[in-house]
Amino acid sequence: MCGIVGYVGKKQAVPILIDGLSKLEYRGYDSAGVAVMQDGKIEVKKAKGRLAVLEEKLNSEGKITGVMGIGHTRWATHGEPSDTNAHPHLSKTGKFAVVHNGIIENYIKLREYLTSKGFEFISETDTEVIAHLVEYYYTGNMVETVAKIVEKVEGSYALGILCDDNPDTFVAVRKESPLIVGLGDGENFIASDVPAILGYTRDVYFLENDEIVVLSSDDVKIYTTDGDEIKKEPFRVNWDISAAEKGGYEHFMFKEIMEQPRAIKDTISPRIQNGKIVLDDINLNADYIKKLDKIYIVACGSAYHVGVVGKYVIEDMTRIPVEVSIASEFRYMNPIVNERTLTVVISQSGETADTIAAMREAKRLGSRTFAVVNAVGSAIAREADDVLYTWAGPEISVATTKAYSTQLNAMYLLSLYIAQELELIDNARLNDCIEALEKLPDNIQSIVENKEEIQYIASKYYNAKSVFFLGRTLDYAVSLEGSLKLKEISYIHSEAYAAGELKHGTIALIEEGTVVVALCTVKPLFDKMLSNIKEVKARGAVVIAIAEEGHTEIEKEADYVIYIPKSDSLVLPSETVVPLQLFAYYVASLKGLDIDKPRNLAKSVTVE
Ligand code: F6R
Repeated sequence: MCGIVGYVGKKQAVPILIDGLSKLEYRGYDSAGVAVMQDGKIEVKKAKGRLAVLEEKLNSEGKITGVMGIGHTRWATHGEPSDTNAHPHLSKTGKFAVVHNGIIENYIKLREYLTSKGFEFISETDTEVIAHLVEYYYTGNMVETVAKIVEKVEGSYALGILCDDNPDTFVAVRKESPLIVGLGDGENFIASDVPAILGYTRDVYFLENDEIVVLSSDDVKIYTTDGDEIKKEPFRVNWDISAAEKGGYEHFMFKEIMEQPRAIKDTISPRIQNGKIVLDDINLNADYIKKLDKIYIVACGSAYHVGVVGKYVIEDMTRIPVEVSIASEFRYMNPIVNERTLTVVISQSGETADTIAAMREAKRLGSRTFAVVNAVGSAIAREADDVLYTWAGPEISVATTKAYSTQLNAMYLLSLYIAQELELIDNARLNDCIEALEKLPDNIQSIVENKEEIQYIASKYYNAKSVFFLGRTLDYAVSLEGSLKLKEISYIHSEAYAAGELKHGTIALIEEGTVVVALCTVKPLFDKMLSNIKEVKARGAVVIAIAEEGHTEIEKEADYVIYIPKSDSLVLPSETVVPLQLFAYYVASLKGLDIDKPRNLAKSVTVE
């Protein structure tokens, strides 16, 4: 999400910044900009659209010259893609310029505070608070000032900051968001990722959280927030450029699976404040919700599978009836929708033709529309009455993973929010759910760290002709996604079945060696799943089970068991899906397939 490049040296900064940003295009962006120190003053140029638009602007409006600068490609989160919202952002007097990657969680509070101190905001971004904060807290010493900013700001950030008091040095700092320092000969760099600087140097420092870097053309110094200098060993990068663009991973899909803990944290943390679910940007109040007689969830593909989970959790938590529909069906089925219906549409791209059409149909029938979207400023985000953004960052692999996971979290947040507003949930239960949400990133991290076990199982069955995924209730909902992941990237025939339904026909397909993935995480239905496993085992199936830690009795029945950390039942789908994503990934990888671009598929389906 977003790309940062910074340069200080003896050459012209702009071409180096643009070149570096072009190497970060894979991260996804919708606008770009640069700030350069020109004759002791900061000059900024920025433009919505591709880098070529920025270059065109730089050429037509007069070149900026100077040997130090910062550049940025922005993937919109707070505020739509526009020239004004593009980075770098200037402080009130123009003394400081800031580029930022990440999300400032307490930006509303900081914005109110700075407004009360006379600062005016011209953009809708969270980043602009940083530019003004730096000016507000500036002591004349940038290390001290940045340490103060780190103390005040909550969330994730990688920052590059120019100050016109220092025409030969600039500073950078990071927390949770990536930032590296490139060490050249008479020139130094910062960047979000290695490819941006690989044409200039292979010697880098990897920064830890809250390390403050001061760069000049012939020196790089790193400090703690207490102002103590830190000595670091440079790392020599030996990767080729294409590997580096995927952060060292072979495929975007794998990178995106690994990014899930961060993506989930970015999606949930800003919405949990003082023990409550806060959906700042949403206008659903208790009076409106009380009048609802139904919620309709409409989406396509994996986003539809999120809707199936959403139905279970919203109905369980709020007792409001929920219907889930595939968007291409909804638009033609004469749905029963009116002003007492809330229509929730879910979409990563925000551009899926069927989902847009379904949303318009719901609106036409008088329903309020509530969109769960990843791409800021997309068609669905613009047209919906309310938008709850998922902050997964750009997803490049065609098969969704991190967007799906953040959409699941949006469903948990929505169900908890409605329950809270209608006073259907007591504080103790709400606290348990919030605690479970907050633990989720760490739990998912522990699952992905166990990837070799899943790789081993995949190595045994990657030649399977057909794979069945079984589960009950929430596990059934997740099995839909596990099955789709496998078929779309490995081209293995696969079906998801409600485990109790199998014996009404489909069990006829189970024969010696058929692979069955049995999801057994719904606690009250665990014994029922054991019986279903016995049924398929008796017909020769090989069973790979997914169960919560501690449920070791399953080892007697299943051939393989993948354990996930114990958690509240509300959030378990988020854990259960991860081994299924990894299984599909490893199967496709062992088959040598084009994982990021599976045959016949497109990332954004903008036609009916
Ligand atoms: C599967 C996948 C698709 C999308 C579907 C909807 O891995 O990615 O099934 O979920 O095409 O796309 P969005 O969410 O962009 O509306």
